[in-house]
Amino acid sequence: MNLIAAVDRNWAIGRGGRLLVSIPADKQAFRDGTVGKAVIMGRKTLESLPGGQPLHKRTNLVLSRDPHYSVKGAVVCRSVEEALAAVSGFKTEDVYVIGGQEIYENFLPHCDTAYITWIDYVYEADAHLHNLDRDPAWTLEQESEEATYFNLCYTFRRYRRK
Ligand SMILES: NC(=O)c1ccc[n+]([C@@H]2O[C@H](COP(=O)([O-])OP(=O)(O)OC[C@H]3O[C@@H](n4cnc5c(N)ncnc54)[C@H](OP(=O)(O)O)[C@@H]3O)[C@@H](O)[C@H]2O)c1
Repeated sequence: MNLIAAVDRNWAIGRGGRLLVSIPADKQAFRDGTVGKAVIMGRKTLESLPGGQPLHKRTNLVLSRDPHYSVKGAVVCRSVEEALAAVSGFKTEDVYVIGGQEIYENFLPHCDTAYITWIDYVYEADAHLHNLDRDPAWTLEQESEEATYFNLCYTFRRYRRK
């Protein structure tokens, strides 16, 4: 299973329920990677999407512990186990964990590949992803050339569980 995220130098991912920054090429890479696949997200991340709506052209799984919560166009799962069962019909390489912090924490043990947009900047943040550079179980397998968006530098990285 895959994890996909944009992180800053401290592996921060968000603040106040929002992304830290929106980089068009990153949004495009996210779309290219996930269209036609299954995406797993937390209820708070779904609510942060445009219009609070599920992502088009993807099978959306949303985690919530609220038994009354439902979303048109998404499968709501009440636990990690329920979400894993719901994606059991997909090839594992066609499943993407897309955040936020709590969902990354819950699903990281089930992921073997991480697509990370690494942004060379430090933001004020209140949500983070586990730092894969400091985790000996993971290795940086591939990194793109550095790209820029205005004065921001970033690369696309692929990490693999050893
Ligand atoms: N940089 C990136 O790539 C990226 C990507 C995605 C999100 N983000 C950021 O991440 C932040 C949000 O992260 P977050 O941790 O606050 O929220 P989150 O992970 O999106 O959602 C948390 C919610 O998911 C549900 N949940 C979590 N674990 C569950 C479990 N085991 N079983 C059932 N339901 C479960 C709960 O919903 P209920 O409260 O309804 O029970 C919980 O409140 C935002 O700032 C967002 O912008 C960044």
